[in-house]
Amino acid sequence: MLNIGDIVLDLNPGEKSQDRMNTFLVIGISNTSDSMTAACISPEVDRYNSGQFTESISSIDIDTGSLKGDCIVLVDKMMSVSSEHYEKVASLKKEKLDKILRLFSHYAVYSHYLSRLDNRRTSGSNIPPSGKVLDENDLFNMVDASLDMWLTAGRFHDEFEKSFAEFLDLRYVLAVNSGSSANLLALSALTSHRLGEDRLKKGDEVITVAAAFPTTIAPIVQNGLIPVFVDVVPGTYNIDPEQIENAISKRTKAIFLAHTLGNPFDIDKVLQIRDKYRLFLIEDNCDALGSRYNAKGSNEKYTGTFGDIATFSFYPAHHITMGEGGAVATNDSRLNKIMLSIRDWGRDCWCPTGKDNTCGQRFSQQHGQLPVGYDHKYVYSHLGYNLKITDWQAAIGLSQLQKLPMFIEKRKENFKLLHDGLKPFKDYLILPSASDKSDAAWFGFPITVKQNNKFDKNKLVSFLEKNNIGTRQLFAGNILRQPVFLNSEIKMRIGNSEFLLSNNLVESDYKMMPNTDITMSSTFWIGIWPGLSQEKIEYLVRKFADFFNLH
Ligand SMILES: Cc1ncc(COP(=O)(O)O)c(C=O)c1O
Repeated sequence: MLNIGDIVLDLNPGEKSQDRMNTFLVIGISNTSDSMTAACISPEVDRYNSGQFTESISSIDIDTGSLKGDCIVLVDKMMSVSSEHYEKVASLKKEKLDKILRLFSHYAVYSHYLSRLDNRRTSGSNIPPSGKVLDENDLFNMVDASLDMWLTAGRFHDEFEKSFAEFLDLRYVLAVNSGSSANLLALSALTSHRLGEDRLKKGDEVITVAAAFPTTIAPIVQNGLIPVFVDVVPGTYNIDPEQIENAISKRTKAIFLAHTLGNPFDIDKVLQIRDKYRLFLIEDNCDALGSRYNAKGSNEKYTGTFGDIATFSFYPAHHITMGEGGAVATNDSRLNKIMLSIRDWGRDCWCPTGKDNTCGQRFSQQHGQLPVGYDHKYVYSHLGYNLKITDWQAAIGLSQLQKLPMFIEKRKENFKLLHDGLKPFKDYLILPSASDKSDAAWFGFPITVKQNNKFDKNKLVSFLEKNNIGTRQLFAGNILRQPVFLNSEIKMRIGNSEFLLSNNLVESDYKMMPNTDITMSSTFWIGIWPGLSQEKIEYLVRKFADFFNLH
């Protein structure tokens, strides 16, 4: 009787031996016959070592029996074996067998991946504005995470947080289940009692913009804080640096801004104001992973490393994906500890999933008015959430991280191609612009249609959509004009205005931010994501030319 993990020898090798191989590793059982599936084992280690689906074995991997010298298992070369014609000579240790069986799964997954490859390519002239770029390594990692059967945050999660922190050159990263959760977590952390006098209290103000993604603004309101809106600059779509100081009041405690569509905001100016007024700065870096900025007095660094906390999204449209996912990052151990607590139900304990008593004092401390020795695992220091990710998300995040440098380069390349291609239409279109101090890994390519008597944004957008070119709005456009603001009584300010209520705004209020309205009515963006080839970008440029020939 043979078992999975047994190494067997062909008793009558004769002609059927492949490549002089007569030793096999049993890797599969059959429900329908006595025979079992086995992978070939070759003594020619050097010959096969570079194969994708090979694993070398030596005597240290043997549990029982013996092996003649080092050899290599080829899981992409298989045979059928039975106890009648094959003799068991050894069996593999569990760890090595696990590794080889994972490789066997990868082989099956790879075949499946190859067979579907053609279906996955974006067909013909279809140009989505964003998309994910996955390869077999993402699939392998997902399969590995499944084979672990760990489910919650585990080894992939720990490795992702560590690798992502290394990439950013920051001390702490916490993975969360979306960019929106990251934003909620970052701002909630600033309200923690652990910050003492520095904490943000109800009624404190946070500077932001209204031409934004809604969940950059929502946490401000959700935490009982007051958003103070500042206008943006067409072309950069970032906060107008000259107007920030004007919006600051005695109650201002934080600045919370995205690097819009990957374009770094004026970090020098924002840092100068942050330092002058001793504010917190949260960088919503959800769209800007890989963008860099050369700030005064520091070397060029990634955006997301300048503020107190940075947030990231790994939704499929973003620079890397986990399906759903995100992260917060900081260099501040106090903020990291607060965010860990709020991310993980608000608990005081910091044990990773599946571990107990990391503090070594699980049953010997006294917290709040709880009895001495109350289990530290069930002590809560914040009103928290559960914003954690699963190990599948982390597994795919890790394999995506390997490709991030290539993704960043491709985004920059596509951006340049498109920018060069659309330059002839500059009389009609405001093309995106970045500061000389930045090197942006753009998320999308924003375009504003200048006022003219031939066409407007809607006309251009509908022409592009008809030609299979996907377009997107610059998120909320002007969030103050969105139903959610009109139907709620959100206390807010615009620039240096008095307090306003969102359901009471009048045209003269909106006029305080004219560029935000222009962004809403005249701006849209198209894709430059890494899945778009040069050919597609050229098609895109041709379609713009067609449009201008017609108008
Ligand atoms: C600037 C910005 N912040 C936050 C988010 C939210 O990220 P998620 O979709 O992962 O919740 C997005 C989403 O695209 C975004 O563009």
